[in-house]
Amino acid sequence: MELMFRESLLKGKRILVTGGGTGLGEVMAEAYAQLGARVYICGRRKDVLEDTARRISDRTHSQVSAISCDIRVAEAVEDMIAEIWADGGALSGLVNNAAGNFISRTKDLSPRGFNAIADIVFRGTFYVTLACGKRWIDGGQKASVISILTTWIWNGGPFTVPSAMSKAGLHIMTKSLASEWGAYGIRLNAIAPGPFPTKGAWDRLSPQSANRSEQRVNAIPMGRNGEMPELANLAVFLMADGCDYLTGQTIAIDGGLHLASGGNFYQLSALGDSDWQHIRDEIKGTNAKDKAKRTV
Ligand code: HXC
Ligand code: NAP
Repeated sequence: MELMFRESLLKGKRILVTGGGTGLGEVMAEAYAQLGARVYICGRRKDVLEDTARRISDRTHSQVSAISCDIRVAEAVEDMIAEIWADGGALSGLVNNAAGNFISRTKDLSPRGFNAIADIVFRGTFYVTLACGKRWIDGGQKASVISILTTWIWNGGPFTVPSAMSKAGLHIMTKSLASEWGAYGIRLNAIAPGPFPTKGAWDRLSPQSANRSEQRVNAIPMGRNGEMPELANLAVFLMADGCDYLTGQTIAIDGGLHLASGGNFYQLSALGDSDWQHIRDEIKGTNAKDKAKRTV
């Protein structure tokens, strides 16, 4: 990948990227490995993780380990973080990237549907941050945490309410811990990406029957979706030494979308009952296929 940094910038860093087996997590994991970091990725589908870890290691010659872990389970998170610490010492960086999401009218959500998202994004992310944070504080290690949010933390997320609520919680976690943990040299920042097409997100946010991709691209002032190296460069910058005084910030990278149009799914208000039934069936088909591959 074409990056704007010198090759060994992250040598000596040890970084965990949650949800690093696919999509944006995979892109950031590769960028870190390319710049010399020792990288760990986690998720629920072991085969997917192992393929990604192998591919990145082959390309970058850095060591990348795949750990299957469901971040909704606090004990499993503790085990994973203990395993990483035992495998060569403290992490120096954490990227909270794992997430779940789907579009749905809020009135159609069940409590389980809400929890399916909140348990991953809101609770799971906190479990991982806490398991790392308490070890950093005990061990006197400096560290950098980056959480991947969305721009609708600022203006709301119609049709993605559990995600918007959960991501907004992480935005406040970022600010709160930036001050609570600043004295320990632990920095927390966040990235709010605009549209960066990935299979995981697009199958659940723009399934065929809700396809509004073209309309959305037209709404972006820069007239295009994000490109992966652009996101990777920001994720490297926030992770690297040299911006040690930068903490508690959430940075949008969206070509100006949220400033021009809100950057959310308000345009889906035009859909009717049968459209929503098709959308739901399509997303559930994707969920079932992914679930069949999970090992944890
Ligand atoms: C309404 C739905 C639904 C849908 C699932 N549910 N899909 N409700 N509309 N489309 C409901 C189910 O009916 C069920 O409730 C409950 O959710 C749990 O469903 P499960 O399939 O058992 O969930 P689970 O196995 O826990 O899977 C979690 C998941 C799944 C979130 C539903 O999509 C997942 O694992 N996603 C991971 C990857 C992902 O989502 N990536 C996209 C991130 S993108 P009932 O009551 O019926 O039992 C992102 C982008 C943001 O965040 C910004 C873009 C611009
Ligand atoms: P993705 O490919 O679906 O990534 C989500 C990852 O999270 C998957 O690898 C998934 O792996 C993992 N995950 C989900 N639940 C998990 C759990 N319980 N435990 C451990 N891992 C879990 O989608 P993406 O587009 O790359 O999204 C990555 C991040 O970017 C998310 O935080 C998303 O909200 C954010 N984002 C994306 C966009 C975009 O345009 N793509 C825009 C704004 C924000 P398993 O299913 O194997 O567990």
